[in-house]
Formats: sequence, C-alpha cells, structure tokens
Amino acid sequence: MRPSVSALLLLATLALPSSAVKNEDFRKCKDSAFCRRGRALAQRAKDAAPGAWKSPYTVIDEAVRVLPHTSGITAVLKNELYPGIKFRIEVRVHDDGVVRVRADEVKGLKKRYDEAASWALIREPVLAPQYEVTWVIGAWETTGHYKGREIRVFYKPFRIVLFQDGREDIVLNGEGLFNMEHFREKTPPADKTEEEAPAPEEAADQKVIEEPKKPVKATAWFEGEEEDGYWEETFKSWTDSKPKGPESISMDVAFPGHQHVYGIPQHAAPLSLPATTGPDSFFDDPYRLWNLDVFEHEASSTMSLYGSIPLMHAHSDKSTVGIFNAVASETWIDVSHPKPDSTLTHWISESGILDVFLLPGPTPEDIFAQYARLTGTPVLPPLWSIAYHQCRWNYISSQDVREVQKAFDDNEMPVDVLWLDIEYSEEHKYFMWKDKTFPDPVEMIEDVAAVGRKMVAIVDPHLKRDHTYPAYKEAMDLDILVKSSNNNNYEGWCWPGSSAWVDFFNPAAWTWWQGLFSLKDKEGVKWRWEKSSKNLFIWNDMNEPSVFNGPEITMQKDNVHYGGWEHRDVHNINGMLYANQTARALLAREEIPKRPFVLSRSFFAGSQRHGAIWTGDNMGTWEHMAVGLQMALADGIAGMTFSGADVGGFFGNPGSEMLTRWYQLGVFFPFFRAHAHIDTKRREPYLLEEPYKSIVRDLLRLRYSLLPVWYTAFRETSVTGMPLLRPQYVMFPKDYKGFAIDGQFYVGSSGLLVKPITQEGVTETDVWLAEDEVYYDYFTYKTYQGAKGGKSVTLPTPIEKFPVLIRGGSILPTRQRPRRSSTLMKQDPFTITIALDSSGTASGQLYLDDGDSFSHEKGELVWREFQAAVLGKRKKKGSLQIMSIDLASAKPDQAVDGTSLSELYTPANAFAQSIKDVKVEKIKVLGLLKEPKEVYLHNNTHDPIQLAWEWDNASSLLTVKNPSTKIVEDWTITVKWV
Ligand SMILES: *[C@@H]1O[C@H](CO)[C@@H](O)[C@H](O)[C@H]1NC(C)=O
Ligand SMILES: *[C@@H]1O[C@H](CO)[C@@H](O)[C@H](O)[C@H]1NC(C)=O
Ligand SMILES: *[C@@H]1O[C@H](CO)[C@@H](O)[C@H](O)[C@H]1NC(C)=O
Repeated sequence: MRPSVSALLLLATLALPSSAVKNEDFRKCKDSAFCRRGRALAQRAKDAAPGAWKSPYTVIDEAVRVLPHTSGITAVLKNELYPGIKFRIEVRVHDDGVVRVRADEVKGLKKRYDEAASWALIREPVLAPQYEVTWVIGAWETTGHYKGREIRVFYKPFRIVLFQDGREDIVLNGEGLFNMEHFREKTPPADKTEEEAPAPEEAADQKVIEEPKKPVKATAWFEGEEEDGYWEETFKSWTDSKPKGPESISMDVAFPGHQHVYGIPQHAAPLSLPATTGPDSFFDDPYRLWNLDVFEHEASSTMSLYGSIPLMHAHSDKSTVGIFNAVASETWIDVSHPKPDSTLTHWISESGILDVFLLPGPTPEDIFAQYARLTGTPVLPPLWSIAYHQCRWNYISSQDVREVQKAFDDNEMPVDVLWLDIEYSEEHKYFMWKDKTFPDPVEMIEDVAAVGRKMVAIVDPHLKRDHTYPAYKEAMDLDILVKSSNNNNYEGWCWPGSSAWVDFFNPAAWTWWQGLFSLKDKEGVKWRWEKSSKNLFIWNDMNEPSVFNGPEITMQKDNVHYGGWEHRDVHNINGMLYANQTARALLAREEIPKRPFVLSRSFFAGSQRHGAIWTGDNMGTWEHMAVGLQMALADGIAGMTFSGADVGGFFGNPGSEMLTRWYQLGVFFPFFRAHAHIDTKRREPYLLEEPYKSIVRDLLRLRYSLLPVWYTAFRETSVTGMPLLRPQYVMFPKDYKGFAIDGQFYVGSSGLLVKPITQEGVTETDVWLAEDEVYYDYFTYKTYQGAKGGKSVTLPTPIEKFPVLIRGGSILPTRQRPRRSSTLMKQDPFTITIALDSSGTASGQLYLDDGDSFSHEKGELVWREFQAAVLGKRKKKGSLQIMSIDLASAKPDQAVDGTSLSELYTPANAFAQSIKDVKVEKIKVLGLLKEPKEVYLHNNTHDPIQLAWEWDNASSLLTVKNPSTKIVEDWTITVKWV
C-alpha cells in the first residue's frame, strides 16, 4: 500500500494512466554495479573468439576429499587470475538425491553471510546413507553415483554436471561465467596494482588490438577494465557505502534439453519464463529478486516485486529438474535459449556464500517433494481463512464494519472475514485503536464473530518514533531496532511519519514481539494488546520493508542487523521472519493453541510455513487480472501455495463486467480476498447492480460449496507440497503443447479444471484438454471429449459463465446449503458428484477436521475416499458400485518428511463423533449411458435398502436423493440396470 493519490486527483480529475509505475525509482541491472559486472562478464564471454573463453576457476585435484560420512566431497577451488585466493567447495548428496553445492572463500579478509539457508530450511537435510554414494576420484574429475544418478565435478575448468541416464540435466559453470569475487583491500586508485595472472592468449590479444594505448589489466579479459562500483555506488540521491567491498557471485546454470523454466517468483510475468537475453528475448532486463514495494507496478515486467523465492524448475517432456539457490541478497537472473530446446540461466547475486541445491526430479511431484523436504510444506490454515475475505482501505469505524457485515447478511452473501487496514490505528501506531472511530473494538470483533466470522487487522513493521508509544519505547529500550551504517537506530519515513524498524533477526525481539499480542497478563510481558480478541488475526503488510524515503522505497543496504550483517545480506528474508514471529505470537495467545492466520506481503523460501501471501498492490485492469493468475501459479510451484491477488484490483474502479470476471477468478484463488485502495469507490459485491450482483452472489456460494474440495486440497499440499493450483506441465508433464499454458489450471487433485476469463467482452474461450478423456461442465454437465495428443475445446462464456470442468474419473464432495459463514456449515450435509471417466471409474477424497485447532495432529480427523466403478458392461448386464471408505484407516499416510499422519487416528475420534450425524444428501453420477433399474444401499448392519433416484436423460445425470448415508461411515451403493 502506498500514499494516497487523492491530492493528485484533485488537480487532475482525468483518468489515471494505465500504468503509473515510476520506473526510474527502481533499478535496472545497469543501475546495480554488481549486476552490471555480472552481465558484462557474460557479454565478454559472448564476444570472445570461439573457444577462447575458459573459466579461470579450477579444482585443485590433490585437495579433493571424500567426507567421512561419504555422502559428499570437499575440494579447493582457485581462480587462476588470483593464485593466492582459495575457495572451499563442498558437494553433498541428500538421501532423496538432491545435491547441495556450497562454496565460501578460505580465510577471506571478511566474512560472507552464510545463514540464508538456515532460515529457509525447515531442518538440516538428511544425507544419503553411508556407503550408498560411491565417489570415484580421478585425475580430471570426481564422480558420485547415487540411485542411478550421477554427479560429476570437473576440475579444469571447474564445472559440475548432474546426469540422468547419461544425459546432462543441470550444468553449473558450463559457460564459464562462475565468478565469486573475493574480498580485497581497498587500494587507492593511483597505485592500483593487480596480481600477475596469465590471460588466455587470444582474449588478451584482442584487448591489445582494440585499445592499444591503455595499460591492460591482466584480469581484464575476465573481470573487465574497471573496478565498477566496488566500494560505493549512488542511485538517485542515495549512496550505498560498501564496507566489505565487492563479493558478488555470478553463476551460469544450464538445463540442456529443457526448453521451459518456471518459478523464481515474484514477477508480473508469464509462468513459462520468457528469455531476457539472446535473439528470442522478450524482456531486456534480468528477472530481479529484491523485495520491493512497487507502486502501481506494470503487468508485464521482470522487475522485483514484494517477495522472492530463488527456486526454478526446468522442464521438458523427459524430465523436470530444479535449482534452489539459497541466497537472500539482491539477485538477478538472465534466461536465454542457446538452442531452441535448452535453457541457460545466469544468476548474479550481490553477497553471501554460494549455497545451491540441485533438485533432480525427475517428475514434477518429485521436485515438489524435494523442495518441501528442504523448506517445509505449506501450513494447513484454519478453514475460515480459505473462505471469502472482504477488505478495503478502510472500513473506517466500528459502525462501518457492522454495516458491511449487515449488508452481506441482508444480501445473502457469505463472508468469513472482515478486514481493517491502517486507519483503525491511532496515528498509525499499530495495536492502538483510534478511539473516536473504534470506541468498542472488542465488542465489534465479537459482533462479527457471533456468526463464526473473524476479523483481521493490519500490523506493519514500522514503529512510530514517539516515546509515548509503548511498542516503540520498549523496542528502543531493549535495543532491538535495525541500525544505520553509523550504528544509530535507523530512522525512515512510513505511514506514521518518522519510524523505526524492529530487527527480527535479533532473537531478543522474538519473545517481546509475541508478548505484544497477548490477551492476558503474562510473566515478562510489559505492554500488551489490551483491546484485542482471539477472533482477531493479523495482516503483516509493508514488510519488504517498505520505507517511503529509502532507496527504491526500502532500507539502505548498508543498514546493520543483529550479528553485524548488512541489510544487503539479509533483505529478502526480512519479511518472512516478521510473519513468522507474528504467527508465533498468535499461537502463544491461547492456552490451547489455535491455528494462526497471518497474511504477509513479503516472502522468501520457507514463508509457506507461516501463512498466506497475496500478490500485492495490483491494478483494476484486465492485464493485471491475467497476470495475477500467472503470479499465483508461480507462487504455488515455489511452495507458496496459499496465495491470491486482490479481487477487483487494489487501484482503480473496475466496471461491473470486470469485477464479475474478477470474482470468477478469485473464487479459484487459494487466498480469496477483495480489497481496494482508499481512493476507489466502494465496491463490496452487494453494491453491484443486477445481473452482476446475483452472479457474484452465486460465485461466493460456489466457493463455499466447494470448501470441502479446497480444504482437502489444502490438506494435501500441507503434506506433499504439491501446489493447489496446478499448471498443465505439472498435470501432464509429457504434453509439450501445454508447457506454456498459464491461463488454465487444475485445483489440487480434485479434477476441477478452471479457465478464468481475463479479457473484456469474451463470449467463448478455448480450453486445452491434454488427454483422451471426457470432461464435464461443472454447471451444465455438458460433456467435452479430449483426444490423444491433446485437443482444444470451445466453451461459451457469457458473463455468468467461465470454464469449470470436472475431469472424468473425479469425485467431488460439496456442501450446497448457502450459509453466512463457513463455520455455520459444520453440520451441513454433503452432495457427492461422481464424474465417471471413459472406462466407467472415478475416485475422490474428502478431508475434514475441526478446522482451527491442532487436534488433527492427534488423529482427530475424517479422511475418506469415494470410489466408483462400473462392473461388467454398462449397456447390458452390469452395475455401478459406489463406495465410501475410511482412508485414514486404510492408508498409512506419510508426509514428505517421513512423519506418519494417521498413527493416532481411530474412526471414533472426537472430531468424527462431533459430525457423526452429518448426512450425504445427494449423490450425482455423471457419465452413465442409460437410466438404471434399481439403486441399493448396503451397509454392515442392514439388509440392502432400495433408494429413490431421478434420471435426467438430457444430461445423463443420475441423482440419488437422500441415500440415508452418513459422511463418516462406510457404505456401498449399487446401481443396477437389470
Ligand atoms: C521462526 O521463529 C522461531 C522462534 O520463534 C525460530 O526458532 C525459527 O527459526 C523462526 N523461523 C524463521 C524462518 O524465521
Ligand atoms: C445402515 O443403514 C441403516 C438404515 O438406513 C442405518 O440406520 C444405519 O445407521 C446404517 N449403518 C451403518 C453402519 O451405516
Ligand atoms: C435419452 O437420451 C438418449 C441419448 O442421449 C436418446 O438416445 C434417447 O432417445 C433418450 N431417451 C428419451 C426417453 O428421451
């Protein structure tokens, strides 16, 4: 969120330009010295005579050692241009085949930041078992074998290659762009002397010919002539002092045979990342990772946005592999295609050690599991938080909040969460209510909570520098604030005016921060949030951090954090730590912990363990709507599955058509929230005119009816790390025609295929069906048949419609009774929709628990599978059998980290008991060829009971009404034709 533009609007009441981003406020690669250096190195390599460019980095062969536990090796790397400088390199193999490569300077003049991975990783990875990796140390290379994979470390030049079946999958330094700038003394420009070093003949000759008069630096062919921005650089009015001098890392990572790369969120860019260099480049600047608050950002750009996850997938119809680069400093990534079917990436980071993980795949599922084992799976959020959220900057008073809630009820629109942006707080001092407008905050929250709803209030990381503000005063007294380069507490400008920032890298800040949220007096807690409630949850915005008067609207890179690390070293982790501590504060708030909910704007690898994110301050335009989906897909494949874009767009006043389409998209975002800027017109869904209002009401109800599907999907992602929104390449890894598709997706394993409409006036659209399978329209049951090799089908999309298809072979459990909030649905009956595949079978799952505690970890849950199969020939004699089985008993379930989930489960657990009377009220079967003759229910205690049904011949829909079955029980229904 950024300052109001109302002042501007008063002066110029004309429409805002479609893109108002101040590009000049943000750096391009050319404005960041280390990125310039990295890109220039790549350019020199490109310009060198064929074969002339050779990496100066070599492995000292006599120093290669197998680690005592045999899962890895260590080696010493040297740069031939600086014979005195050495790097220790370590290559380890994890038990799932992931290969970790670390490198740090040996006895450097200074220390590199080496803690990025320890924040990102959920635990120390498990190494491959002893003696299972066989290393062969040779004269030119070391080769390691593990589980059919091969990792080779080449000595001269240094290169690491991961092979699968003899095929190169990932190559580090294949292009010779690896460069780890060593720490050096600052030498006065006059007597600049460089160490002697040999240069490849050709390259040196070229330089001499080009610039005969200049003295040639021996390292120039590799590093260039100048010390470009080594010790200081200026961007606009800010000067960044670099006390440690240059320490950047450049590294090329090639994915031979892999045409597509995905990931490295967050960018407003297509899912399959377009090239940034080379003849087919679409963008001209590298993808940047440096968490920033970009006001009115563009809908198509490689510019950095609010979060950074340095994880990339590379995909082909043969395999999926990945790289996770655990770096928290500013990072730029060029993407190119040296050959049409291969991808070359070039990563340039400002500081820190080299710590990269090569994920061998070979399937997308494997990559998700490998990444989840490293950084953790997404949280299982409280059920209410996956329902609908209504937000605005701002609901201005407790009366306003009550009126909004009432309008939802009067208009019979469900909503679970009402949000408060910054204006609830007195002078933007978070935790302190504006008494005039919010005189009764606790009563207000409890009024909202009376029908099972919750509230969320914003708490930002900047603290108003006001000695009467206890949060600031205490933080100052505890000396836990971020420091400037001069070691004074850093001051910057944000919502409250002059502000200070808590340093969440300092463990002393953790317990203190947690205390601020406590509801009761606790030992050690001085000042606490008196007027709060356990029904109030938290939104952490502005945690990049956003600093209005800082360089690129953030902090100076030479600010200092706990442990003496510069802000440049840790910047991208900052927001994650903040959200973590807030989530822990909410956990600590209650005696019997409830699941916290924290929405964060900034994120890093591992943020999925702490809560949800959204894509930040988007605009109410069609382009932003479309890219919001692409961004959510990219977040999802990088672990941050609980994500969504502001419905309606934060800025601007979308018309009814756009807003309706936006709700259609939002209904299928994992995080579904409408939000709007303070200068926009009110646009709560009940304010829409007809027919839009009824359409959006139906959409909200659609989300609520699908909550069992969503919750089951959230539970799955919390166990496997598989994304909630699954792109085509994840679902159909061999269907190359789908690899670049990012306008449609599947919802978890449910079989729902969705294609939102993100353009104006669209009356029909094509959906790609990658397989020879039948798909059913979710709303009309009309069938669409795919084909071997894939097929495009066309669906009508009048304003009330958009493609939602059920893949043949799926079973969907839904709840069809409209309610005001999700909490009120706990005892509602289920409708089970069975969509038979071409061979007459289907299956689907349902996961339920109490939705807000941790009792599911003690086995208090219901986890069922529905199976349907046509036995015999459908047209002649035959029957359809539909079964509900207790999956939690049937399947010993394991999370990606190996922990067992249903160990403590018993069918009669307290949660299952609490819903023991919940019925299945309807079973719908799609895909039968003709009307049956009989339908029976079997259970363990009774003789078969005949059930009533309806047959809709037009859509071949069989509806079994009131089958007198319970959702928690085992049962079998038989449909017969004779
Ligand atoms: C989250 O906070 C806990 C302590 O409250 C700490 O142990 C853990 O390392 C933190 N993780 C991250 C990613 O900040
Ligand atoms: C079996 O069906 C009967 C009759 O509908 C019902 O009363 C009973 O609860 C069912 N038992 C089980 C275990 O499903
Ligand atoms: C039912 O539909 C099928 C084709 O879908 C058609 O062949 C048949 O005549 C219809 N029967 C009736 C009674 O309408």
